[in-house]
Amino acid sequence: MQAMQAKITLDKDYVIGEIDKRIYGSFVEHLGRCVYGGIYEPGHPQADEEGFRRDVLELVKELKVPIVRYPGGNFVSGYRWEDGVGPRENRPRRLETAWKSIETNAVGLNEFCNWAKKAGSEVMMAVNLGTRGIAEACDLLEYCNHPSGSALSDLRRSHGWEKPHAIKTWCLGNEMDGPWQMGHKTPEEYGRLAAETARAMRMIDPTIELVSCGSSNPHMPTQPEWEAITLSETYDVVDFISMHQYFSNAADDTPNFLAQTMSMDSFIRSVVATCDYVKAKRRSKKTLNISFDEWNVWFHSNQADDKVMERTPWGLAPHLLEDVYTFEDALLVGGLLITLLTHADRVKMACMAQLVNVIAPIMTAQDGAAWRQTIYWPLLHASLYGRGTALQPVISSPKYDTKTFTDVPALHAAAVQNEDGGVTIFALNRDLQQPMTLSCELRGFGGYHVGEQIELAGADLKAVNTEKSQPVTPRKAGSAKMSGSVLEALLPAASWNVIRLEKDAQ
Ligand code: AHR
Repeated sequence: MQAMQAKITLDKDYVIGEIDKRIYGSFVEHLGRCVYGGIYEPGHPQADEEGFRRDVLELVKELKVPIVRYPGGNFVSGYRWEDGVGPRENRPRRLETAWKSIETNAVGLNEFCNWAKKAGSEVMMAVNLGTRGIAEACDLLEYCNHPSGSALSDLRRSHGWEKPHAIKTWCLGNEMDGPWQMGHKTPEEYGRLAAETARAMRMIDPTIELVSCGSSNPHMPTQPEWEAITLSETYDVVDFISMHQYFSNAADDTPNFLAQTMSMDSFIRSVVATCDYVKAKRRSKKTLNISFDEWNVWFHSNQADDKVMERTPWGLAPHLLEDVYTFEDALLVGGLLITLLTHADRVKMACMAQLVNVIAPIMTAQDGAAWRQTIYWPLLHASLYGRGTALQPVISSPKYDTKTFTDVPALHAAAVQNEDGGVTIFALNRDLQQPMTLSCELRGFGGYHVGEQIELAGADLKAVNTEKSQPVTPRKAGSAKMSGSVLEALLPAASWNVIRLEKDAQ
């Protein structure tokens, strides 16, 4: 078959921005089997002395997850953090209304901070601004971050955590525009509450970073008015605005599905524009950044979840949101990571939702194995090789139209000047039939050679990884060659590609 031609021009001086490694963050919510049966399963043969699964920790460490958002999600809007601290035998079992489950509180914030330390991750803590407010957020911050000599910091010490957790990043609620959220609010109500909570929290610990809730998704009728109104209250006292977006191929239209990177792109542009509008209105010198703290493919489990919650509510760690990901899901996830890199100047944090079992790159079986879902691979590649400076590639590619999108470039790509002097190119060939010859000119870089070429390709679009078989696994490829300053490579049809260039010895 004839290959399509696509071209990238890279110039050392065409820079988008420094990549904040926190764009490779993740999310652990008290939901389904993410905590219980996911990161924590006492009694499992791999459980450590605290009940955390070592096999899961190894996979998380391999991903080098820089930050993990906790404890929700919709869960946080009804959560009482005090339930999860102190002696386990005194912790209450609660009706957890967001996911119609029983919350035993066997894991709370102290245990989670221990787990995050083991995983090598920072914690991004969310406060409950649904059923609770300023006082409880301040109490939680005092408990976590104040060294000693106050009621709540001494309470933490009495619970066995002498040193403060020093949590830097805090989310002011979750999806507060959503009618499904306990205590959801109008933008005026949320803007005032979030701003006053931010001011009060900063009085306790001025070193923290705060995230104001943006719209729950781009289809909310109040987006981007929500951002404009809430930020007119919170702009001066927060550092980030959140974005959430999930992607579906329920219509089973793969070309349209893979083009959804364009929807993420236009959502980011709309939120950036709204932040900058508020900046202009306020004559502010400060630029607000984005925390894209929930994103992923999510649709496979929807109908099963409705049944679990309706027919068998109030279960312990029920099987919820357990999407089993396909090869084409991994392709889209690769494309979404490319899109985040394309906005590295403004998207400074992002969390794939979630980490284990619940719409997650890692799955576990009770008493059994932990394994990598298909989407694990692009996340791993981006986290390992997508650190440094994002470059602005000039791309020329054949285009196609879909039901929702026009002029979709078959080639979607990002380039990173790595901290060690290397250059990494991430490239998605969205064409399902045709391979693509990529020609990439590197201007002003000096001599480079191909260090490694990795591809995720050749699988059935609907192939999935299970405990027993892993058909969607990356392999080394050998087509990439440098001639002078031009890289040539063949990208298979429907493929995720990573080409790592190393500097020639001087
Ligand atoms: O990640 C699953 C859920 O999706 C989260 O709890 C919520 O914030 C979002 O709607």
